[in-house]
Amino acid sequence: MAKCIGILTAGGDSPGLNAAIRAVGKSLLHYNIQLLGFRDGFEGLVYDKTMHLNNDDLSGILTAGGTVLGTSRTKPQKMPVGKNIMDMTDVIVENYKKHQLDALICIGGGGTHKSALKLKEKGLNIITIPKTIDNDIACTDNSIGFDTALRIATDAIDSLHSTASSHKRIMLVEIMGHRAGWLTLGAGLAGGADVILIPELPYDINNVANAILQRSREGKRFSIVPVAEGAVSKAEALLFAQAAARKEKATSKKDKEKSKIELENLWLARTGNTLRIAQKLEELTGQETRVTILGYLQRGGKPSPSDRILATKLGNACVDLIRKRQFGYMVASKGQDIEPVPIEEVAGKLKLVPQDHPWIKSARETGISFGV
Ligand code: F6P
Repeated sequence: MAKCIGILTAGGDSPGLNAAIRAVGKSLLHYNIQLLGFRDGFEGLVYDKTMHLNNDDLSGILTAGGTVLGTSRTKPQKMPVGKNIMDMTDVIVENYKKHQLDALICIGGGGTHKSALKLKEKGLNIITIPKTIDNDIACTDNSIGFDTALRIATDAIDSLHSTASSHKRIMLVEIMGHRAGWLTLGAGLAGGADVILIPELPYDINNVANAILQRSREGKRFSIVPVAEGAVSKAEALLFAQAAARKEKATSKKDKEKSKIELENLWLARTGNTLRIAQKLEELTGQETRVTILGYLQRGGKPSPSDRILATKLGNACVDLIRKRQFGYMVASKGQDIEPVPIEEVAGKLKLVPQDHPWIKSARETGISFGV
């Protein structure tokens, strides 16, 4: 029977992380199994920064945003140590053994799943819980934090309507989501947007302007345009596709690294994209345009009821797997059920919005333009 389980939260924080930690801890208590927290993501495992999570520590955290454990984007396999980047996975293995852990639960998104796979390959008993406001984790319908962020972004769009209408403006609202458009599409659909720009459907700025001008001809006084932080124009999409193809073809380590840097630079060059779109739209339409960047507000504050329920179900499912000694899985949300999915099937994959997704179809049928 298991005696002690480790837990950490890694990557960007998400509302609902504490609800998951609490659910794991409370479920383990039933079986007299201890929970040991590691601080600040994988850093805690490398530097042995721990936090006891007894019954009292688990009280009062269900509704709190952020993570009581702290988090970081540090990858154990590529960790900055002084001036060097080092593989610290062996140090993690030592600390795992030192604490006599029976399993380690890693709560995180895309990056966390890659790191978790490395630790699984080192022979550790790993279970992961999917969390990210971006909703881009493969093999799961949903991830902790998405619903809360969706509400925050939708509320923001709701609020923009009255000021947009009063001033007869085009209102751009930049929404997070990394390379995926789930949050922007969902909030745009729920908030009654007029044009939605997402990475999965590269836009042509002239088509965006034409959709707005058409609205003006129909007597509409304003336009609401949610823009995903990863939205790309058709020209940019081509550059990304060409760089990705070069990365795919690269055979030597040097060429692979070079094309990876090329892709990262292309991504960085897009900083300020929403502001540039606004400027261009003002030029093309002659209409006053304003930008709101929601930023970290989308990740802050208390989790929604759905996220609390999801986090609790996923936390409980982890403990079921531990009791059955089934390790090496992500607990995935599939409809109303939770199913284990091998970490290999999740790591390194990205769940983007499929072009034929029902949300895209609904948006089109209600007259929303994607500027394609
Ligand atoms: O992955 C969650 C997320 O909020 C993305 O939407 C965003 O691109 C990124 O994190 C921001 O990262 P950081 O917290 O490192 O600035």
